[in-house]
Amino acid sequence: MKEKMSIMDRIAESNKSVTTGIDEKDIKYWVTIYIMGKAYKVPAGLTIMQSMEFAGYRFVRSAGCRAGFCGACATVYRKAGDYKLQTAMACQTRVEEGMYLVQIPFAPAEKATYDINKEKYNIGVLFKHYPELARCVACNTCTKSCPQELEVMDYIQDAIKGDFKAVAEESFDCIQCGLCAIRCPAELVQYHIAQLARRMYGHYECHEPEHLKIRLKEIEKGKYKEDWNKLIKATIKELEKFYADREREPD
Ligand code: SF4
Ligand code: SF4
Ligand code: FES
Repeated sequence: MKEKMSIMDRIAESNKSVTTGIDEKDIKYWVTIYIMGKAYKVPAGLTIMQSMEFAGYRFVRSAGCRAGFCGACATVYRKAGDYKLQTAMACQTRVEEGMYLVQIPFAPAEKATYDINKEKYNIGVLFKHYPELARCVACNTCTKSCPQELEVMDYIQDAIKGDFKAVAEESFDCIQCGLCAIRCPAELVQYHIAQLARRMYGHYECHEPEHLKIRLKEIEKGKYKEDWNKLIKATIKELEKFYADREREPD
C-alpha cells in the first residue's frame, strides 16, 4: 500500500537534502525544473532558492535575507504548457514541476534624488520627480506581479490623487523587489514613487514618538557606550556567547 505523508512531512522530507546533505537515494519526491534553460531534477518541496542551490548554483547576487523581507530574490518563471509569465520571490516560493526559472538580479530603475526638507508637501512633488506617474493606464499588471500581494495599482492611483497617507499605508509592506516596475507597460517605478510618498508623509505628518526622543537623549548621554565598546572588542567566541545569552522576547 502506498505510504501516506502529510504535506508538512513531505516538505520536511524534501528539505533534508539541503539541511542535512542527505543522500539522493533517500529523497522520495522529485520534480524537474529548468534553470536558464537547463533541466535539473530537484527534491519536491524545496523553495526555488533551495532548489537552485541543490542544482549547484551559488547565489552571488539575488539572495539576501532568505526570509521574504529584503526583496533581493526576484524570479520570473513560466510553467510548461502555460502562456502566463509569473513572478515570485525565490526564497518564498516552492518549486513546481516544469518551472522555467530566471533570476532578476535587480531592476535597473531610475531613482530620483531629493532633499525631503526642501520639498513642498503637495501632489506636485510626486509628478516633479516621477512625471511618468501620469502615464498609468490602470491595467493592474503591477498588482498581479507583486509577490507581497499589495494593491500596487491602487496605491499608484492614490499617488496620482496626492493621497500620501493612503500610499504610505498601502505600500508599507513593499520589499522593493522591482517586479511591478519591470512588468509595467507605462514604465513607472511604483516602489520608488511609493517610497517618496512614504517619506513625505512621515516627514510632514507623523510626529516623532516621545519614546524615540528619550532614547536618542540616552544615547547622546552615553548610556550604551560601555556595552558598545564591549561588543567592538569582543572575540568571535565572546560574540557567540552574547548572542546565545541575549535577552529574548517571551513566546
Ligand atoms: S502596471 Fe503600470 S500602467 Fe499598469 S496599473 Fe500598474 S502602474 Fe499603472
Ligand atoms: S510593490 Fe513592487 S517592488 Fe514592492 S513588493 Fe510589490 S512588486 Fe515588489
Ligand atoms: S532573499 Fe530576501 S526576500 Fe528572498
